[in-house]
Amino acid sequence: MIVYFSGTGNSLAIARQIGEALGEQTMPLHQAVQADLSSEKVVGLVYPSYYFNAPEPVLRMVKELRINSGAYVFIIIPCGAQTGRAIWSVTKILKEKGVEVAYCHKIRVPDCSAIGFGRNPNEQAWKFERFAPRMEQIVSDLKARKHAHHFGGWSLAGWLCALPWMQKKTLPLLQPAVHADKCVGCGTCKRVCKQGNISLVEAAGRTQPLAVIGDHCAQCLSCVHFCPQQAVEIAGKPTLRERQYHHPKVKVADMVH
Ligand SMILES: Cc1cc2nc3c(=O)[nH]c(=O)nc-3n(C[C@H](O)[C@H](O)[C@H](O)COP(=O)(O)O)c2cc1C
Repeated sequence: MIVYFSGTGNSLAIARQIGEALGEQTMPLHQAVQADLSSEKVVGLVYPSYYFNAPEPVLRMVKELRINSGAYVFIIIPCGAQTGRAIWSVTKILKEKGVEVAYCHKIRVPDCSAIGFGRNPNEQAWKFERFAPRMEQIVSDLKARKHAHHFGGWSLAGWLCALPWMQKKTLPLLQPAVHADKCVGCGTCKRVCKQGNISLVEAAGRTQPLAVIGDHCAQCLSCVHFCPQQAVEIAGKPTLRERQYHHPKVKVADMVH
C-alpha cells in the first residue's frame, strides 16, 4: 500500500507511479488512518516537506497508522529542494511504534509554495526531466526492496526552520485567505481541502455563497492552486492564473476525497 498526502498533486503522482511499478494500491493518508494496514507487506509513505519538516497532518496521522513491524516501509519526499527534518521526524515516530523505515529518498519537483513568494512554480517544470533518472533509480531500489537511507542533505538553516518556535514565525507567510469579491461560491476549494477546513456560507448582499477558510489550515495550498477564479490569495497578494500549479497528470477530481 502506498499512502500519500498531497496538496498540488506531486506526491499523489509519485505515489501512483511507485504503486504501479510495485503492483501496490495507493490511498490518501487520511483514509489510511481509518484502514488497517497491518496485513500489508509493503507500506510506502509519500508526502512533501513543508517548512523543512513533514506537514503537521502527516506527523499527527502517522502516529495513528496501523503498520506491521515486519513490513517493508519506505518514505519518499517530493520537495522543492530541501527536506530538512521531514524524513527524520516521521522515521522517529514510526520507530517509537516499533516500525523501522527501510528506505528513504527525496525527489525534487516544482515548488508549489513559490507562488507565495512572487515566483512561478510552473517555471520549475524542468525538474521533472532533470530528476527522472533519480525517480527511475528510486523505483528500481524499491522493487529490489533495498535498505538505504538518503536523508536528502543536511543544512543548519533547514533544521532551524523546522523548530516549533521558528515555525510560528514562518507559518503566516503562506496562509491562504479568500478574496470575497473574486469568490463565486463554486466550492472547488471546499472539495479539494483534505482538512475539511473550508465552508461555504451565505453572506449578506451576496447572491452566491462565500468560501471561508477555518482555523486548521495545513497550508497545502490546494485551494490557492485549484481555484478557477484565482480567489484564494496568500498574504493579500493577487493570485495570478499563470502561477497556479498542479502536477500535470493530476486533476481536481483526483484531489477530491
Ligand atoms: C507550506 C509549504 C511549505 C513548503 N516548504 C518546503 C520546504 O521547506 N522545502 C522544500 O524543499 N519544499 C517546500 N515546499 C514545497 C513542497 O514540498 C513541494 O511543492 C511539494 O511537491 C508539494 O507536494 P504536493 O504537490 O504533493 O502537495 C513547501 C510547500 C508548501 C505548500
